Amino acid sequence: MRIDIVSLFPEFIAQCAGVGVVGRAQERGLLSTHGWNPRDYAAGGYRRVDDRPFGGGPGMVMMIEPLQACLSAARAADEAPAPVIYLSPQGRPLTQAKVRELAALPRLILLCGRYEGVDERLLAAEVDEEISIGDYVLSGGELAAAVVIDAVARLQEGALNDAESAVQDSFEGDGLLDCPHYTHPASHALGEVPAVLRSGDHAAIARWRRQQALGRTWLRRPDLLDEAALSKADRALLEE
Ligand code: ADE
Repeated sequence: MRIDIVSLFPEFIAQCAGVGVVGRAQERGLLSTHGWNPRDYAAGGYRRVDDRPFGGGPGMVMMIEPLQACLSAARAADEAPAPVIYLSPQGRPLTQAKVRELAALPRLILLCGRYEGVDERLLAAEVDEEISIGDYVLSGGELAAAVVIDAVARLQEGALNDAESAVQDSFEGDGLLDCPHYTHPASHALGEVPAVLRSGDHAAIARWRRQQALGRTWLRRPDLLDEAALSKADRALLEE
């Protein structure tokens, strides 16, 4: 998969995309990220990319022309069609289902805004989808773009070392939060590992994990239980 990032700070994304699972996905040739700076496409000595908003008010708005030229260059860098996603708090909230949908595409262009935003005419003409990573305001779309890149990279076939771990994650498969995990030592001043996990009884372990996942989801994110497909056995576990 190829991801192009249009941002006034492409080096910020390059930093994030070079480490951990995303870095490994790039090394394994499963993903490539390419930064594009609208300032490189701006006219004049000052290479101006923003201007004051019509109607007055604080802040600056990113101008159409540098962004349009930059997007065209990014688009032309590969023949695969690339939907343009604009990261903004006005977008639809990102979900794991959306991440899965994006991860299956051959290409993606992520557009990061700064200042008060981007001229609405550019958004109307060039953007296929607007995505938010949560109900809070960041000072730019770069961190949100890094979130999309990370979430999408780890779903590329072969990116994770243990193919199972993506399926077990919170939100994957059954839409529940993940169960707790423990490792050595079994006994520690901070507490004991639950005995069932050391019992070797795989059915009992699976049942305990399911119950923990259900209980956590009920306590922390009851909204998810409405969406999750719960079996009769799950309902019984929740009531225990
Ligand atoms: N840009 C600024 N805030 C954002 C948010 N919450 N999600 C996505 N992009 C943003």
